[in-house]
Amino acid sequence: MAQDILRVGLIGCGNVVSYGHRPALTTLADVELVALADVTPERRLIGREWFGLSDENLYASYAPILARQDVDAVVVTVPQKFRRQIVLDALAAGKHVLSEKPLASTPAVANELCEAAERSELTFGIVHNYHFFPEYRLIKHLVDGGEIGDLRVLTLNYLGVIDYPGAAEYQADWRHTMDAGGGVLIDMIHAVYLAEWLAGEQAIQVNAFVDAPTYADQNPVIEDLALLQVAFPSRYALINMAWGQGVGGVDVSGSDGQIRMRYEDYQTSGFNQPIELYSVKNWQRTDHVIPNLPAHMDNIAHSFTALWADFRDAIRENRAPVAPARAGERALQLALAGYLSSATGKTITLPLPVDHPVYEHGINGILQADIWEESRTKSAGLFGLRD
Ligand SMILES: NC(=O)c1ccc[n+]([C@@H]2O[C@H](COP(=O)([O-])OP(=O)(O)OC[C@H]3O[C@@H](n4cnc5c(N)ncnc54)[C@H](O)[C@@H]3O)[C@@H](O)[C@H]2O)c1
Repeated sequence: MAQDILRVGLIGCGNVVSYGHRPALTTLADVELVALADVTPERRLIGREWFGLSDENLYASYAPILARQDVDAVVVTVPQKFRRQIVLDALAAGKHVLSEKPLASTPAVANELCEAAERSELTFGIVHNYHFFPEYRLIKHLVDGGEIGDLRVLTLNYLGVIDYPGAAEYQADWRHTMDAGGGVLIDMIHAVYLAEWLAGEQAIQVNAFVDAPTYADQNPVIEDLALLQVAFPSRYALINMAWGQGVGGVDVSGSDGQIRMRYEDYQTSGFNQPIELYSVKNWQRTDHVIPNLPAHMDNIAHSFTALWADFRDAIRENRAPVAPARAGERALQLALAGYLSSATGKTITLPLPVDHPVYEHGINGILQADIWEESRTKSAGLFGLRD
């Protein structure tokens, strides 16, 4: 890092850049975007305007960015299907890497990327930006501080996830194809890594129902509803996820009380500001003040900015970032194990064996599993299971 400025190359200039990386990269004084690559010419021009780049810093391919000496780190914001080669090449070129979530489409690739980074001296972070939402930081602080005794059950309701299309200039519907590696659960994998983080343990079992009721008449191939029960060594999580307008918010039950967090109109985490966070102990309620965000930033923009600041500091201090890529590999396994559970009607033990078809091929491996004939995932025709 020259003069303590982190110089960044952006690979993929789609929607997540507009509301996430753009505010971060144009706000942090000591993080500077110096080059951008995108396969779609219109997206390169949009990025040129956003970041005030000159034409010689815009590329159709990522390779020239990796060859530049004045790039310290790259952020890989392409759809997950394309991440593997870009991340491997970036690490081989000596660049620190920040990957969007999900880390990959298969645990095998996610693990390959983590191992490549672990063999290097480089920092490999993932955009698990919900770690930086003030409401989740406060919940974590209360749980770890013993506010409700021993944590027993986490309920993460994400039943009102907005089904955002991809950038119109590229391929708006990619998130509804097998290429996405899954549907709403993969899209909103935030709840999955938050469950592990809040539980303070790694998941060991998952049991799930995965279906597509909203899009049933459109012959969907990926889900819009996923209901997961997750076992950790000493606690549990319920993760309820849907594209739609259902209930959002978080409930935490402990041996001595509970914590509840709500957004306005019970909306889902993401673009909403929390309006209520309280704990109840011995049937006495205590309201907790959620720290205010900077006036000019919403929850999403603030979370990306805080995540980027942590990624920068992790490189400077030669430490792991708050959101390391390895957590992305575990979150991906848990989500895919949920799909496998629903398709087979069985509880799935984690980690998946490395020779399991779903470990090797992600959702494309589900076809090779022992499918339960009554499975709602099968009757919905998801993941290639259409008769
Ligand atoms: N952290 C979050 O909260 C969050 C939110 C949204 C999306 N995401 C993730 O970000 C990634 C991108 O999502 P999006 O909504 O921005 O998608 P998008 O469709 O809006 O943008 C994708 C961009 O990548 C470009 N692209 C595709 N292949 C490329 C390649 N090989 N090299 C360079 N550019 C390429 C496209 O032209 C397009 O501009 C996904 O992995 C998604 O899961 C994360």
